[in-house]
Amino acid sequence: MLHLQHNVVSILCTIKGMIECHGMKTKENLFRTREEALKHARSVMKRIYHQADRALLITKHISVAMKAEPDSDDCGSEVSVKDVWREVVDTFKRRYSFESLEVLDHVSAEYPPIRCSHNDLMEIFYILVENAVQAMNQKGKLIIRANLQFSKEDYPLAVITVSDTGPGIPEDILSRLFEPFFTTKSLEEGSGLGLCLVKNLAKRNGGSVTASSFKGCGTTFTLSFSVARLGRMEKQSPLAYAA
Ligand SMILES: Nc1ncnc2c1ncn2[C@@H]1O[C@H](COP(=O)(O)OP(=O)(O)O)[C@@H](O)[C@H]1O
Ligand SMILES: [Mg+2]
Repeated sequence: MLHLQHNVVSILCTIKGMIECHGMKTKENLFRTREEALKHARSVMKRIYHQADRALLITKHISVAMKAEPDSDDCGSEVSVKDVWREVVDTFKRRYSFESLEVLDHVSAEYPPIRCSHNDLMEIFYILVENAVQAMNQKGKLIIRANLQFSKEDYPLAVITVSDTGPGIPEDILSRLFEPFFTTKSLEEGSGLGLCLVKNLAKRNGGSVTASSFKGCGTTFTLSFSVARLGRMEKQSPLAYAA
């Protein structure tokens, strides 16, 4: 499999190549009519616009990915996993056809709020869902689960898993997933910054992320965050959360 390193430099090279190609065709009078030249110029501009958009998005991702320190006021604030997940899934349903994709939400309505910025959790779920949808080619199951891990600490740890029934990830790739610019996708589909961003967003909210997968058996991303406050049920029984 080809692992491409997509970055702003490669996008600029693509843009430069498109302009050079158009310039050369014009210089050598390769267009039969003025209309044909204009049509070509319009299509080149459209592609340049699209590439520039991608470069801007990558630049934005890089700037967030490079910052592990909290930089937003709501870093570590209280957020509902279930509400954010629903928001993200609804956004995706407007963008993609979910006809062959089943979304299973196994987060109990009683699940306690976690310590994470609302926008950061949105971004984290958005990236994980986008990767899963792309991996499954919009066919399969996308499942979120949330549990509590009890230890000797006062508060349990919130453990959230996002799983898909896609093709899974081979072992040699698994260890590289969170590297910046690591991607197995085409230039149009991926930048290789999604999971690097997920890692840093989780980190700046005091959380963490790991991936587990086996080729052919789907993929699971496990997120851990602090629980913001306990409700009545958590004190009674840790098992009360299974939805
Ligand atoms: N759910 C998944 N199933 C299979 N492969 C995945 C999944 N999520 C991520 N990957 C792999 O991890 C790579 C890096 O993901 P990411 O950092 O989001 O970058 P990008 O999506 O732009 O390639 C992807 O190119 C893909 O190979
Ligand atoms: Mg991605």
